[in-house]
Amino acid sequence: MRKRLTIRIILPHFPKNDFEKGNSISQIVLSLRRPFFANQIYTEMINLESRYMGLKLRNPIVAGSSGLTNSVENIIELEKNGIAAVVLKSLFEEQIHYSASHTLMQDEYKNLYPEAEDYIRNYTAENDINSYLRLIENTKKAVTIPVIASINCISDTKWIDYAKKIESAGADGLELNIAVLPSDPNKESSENEKIYFDVTREITKALNIPVAIKLSYYFSGLAKTMKSLSWTDIKALVLFNRFYSPDIDIEHEEIKSSFVFSSPSEIALPLRWIAMLSPIVECDIAASTGVHDGTGLIKMLLVGADVVQIASVLYQKGFREIGSMIDQLESWMDRHNYINIDDFRGKLSVAKTENPAAYERIQFMKHFSGIE
Ligand SMILES: Cc1cc2nc3c(=O)[nH]c(=O)nc-3n(C[C@H](O)[C@H](O)[C@H](O)COP(=O)(O)O)c2cc1C
Repeated sequence: MRKRLTIRIILPHFPKNDFEKGNSISQIVLSLRRPFFANQIYTEMINLESRYMGLKLRNPIVAGSSGLTNSVENIIELEKNGIAAVVLKSLFEEQIHYSASHTLMQDEYKNLYPEAEDYIRNYTAENDINSYLRLIENTKKAVTIPVIASINCISDTKWIDYAKKIESAGADGLELNIAVLPSDPNKESSENEKIYFDVTREITKALNIPVAIKLSYYFSGLAKTMKSLSWTDIKALVLFNRFYSPDIDIEHEEIKSSFVFSSPSEIALPLRWIAMLSPIVECDIAASTGVHDGTGLIKMLLVGADVVQIASVLYQKGFREIGSMIDQLESWMDRHNYINIDDFRGKLSVAKTENPAAYERIQFMKHFSGIE
């Protein structure tokens, strides 16, 4: 674990010119040989240790699920650069179905050998799953940090078997990316919400490893739903998933993908909701979306997140940014006289801040925004 040794010296007339001569603190201490002086030196260790989903982490920075967590080599590098845990690239239900049907479409012999269809479909799905299980096994052998698998699921039945295999392969936890876009105008919001509860109930019943759910903010009763989900057997909520979003190419009058990576300004949305939800949910919270530096990390901890997950910044700035974030956190804690993260976690959540109304306010006013 990375630790900073802070030596505080309390002495009314400290010999400042010793520092100017470039002497180290220990040289100065030894040269002084004043008994009273030693009594006034104490050491404190800044401790970044965190807990998430019941797992012990060396700091609160987790690599979120992305293409960067899809190989053992990358995860070894992430660990070397200080990451505390990784969430593997998701195993997508649609991806398995798509790759199976795509293989079938490409197969010019499929009409000649129709019985091959089932075999190919199952083989393609199995192959994806087997390579995912190998990724878990090999990663677990190569690193000591917790490895959290990830499944992107949209139904409550098909995934149970996959999840059990993932547990047997040695994953330390499972993150379920449940993505339901409430776009059906004939569906009540309660019908959409039921899917989350059904999936959660089935998966947590089947597994012994801790389960987290990664969610979007597309809920009409977001606070109530999060609170109720936290009463189930899940160990954490990941707030929030960042979806693929469509954009328009006006020259070709076509739909294209909008930015794949987040920007730091996107932190505003999870920050508000974590500030409001952290005092009321009864499970851990991982902040996801828009954390691009140590400042973003500190903000999320201040509003009550247990850990942050980062993805875009790892693509854009590289793995060394993890070290910079840790340095920024440590030096900020040092300046603010904090030893443990729990000393300040949630200090600016809606339950503890002196200005809880700031999180409830949604209309711009000149007084608050400073802009006419
Ligand atoms: C290239 C890329 C691939 C991603 N793949 C997944 C994925 O497989 N499963 C998942 O749950 N999230 C995936 N994400 C979403 C991230 O885990 C994260 O929630 C999102 O990018 C917001 O965090 P950020 O602002 O730190 O990027 C992906 C993100 C990126 C940029």
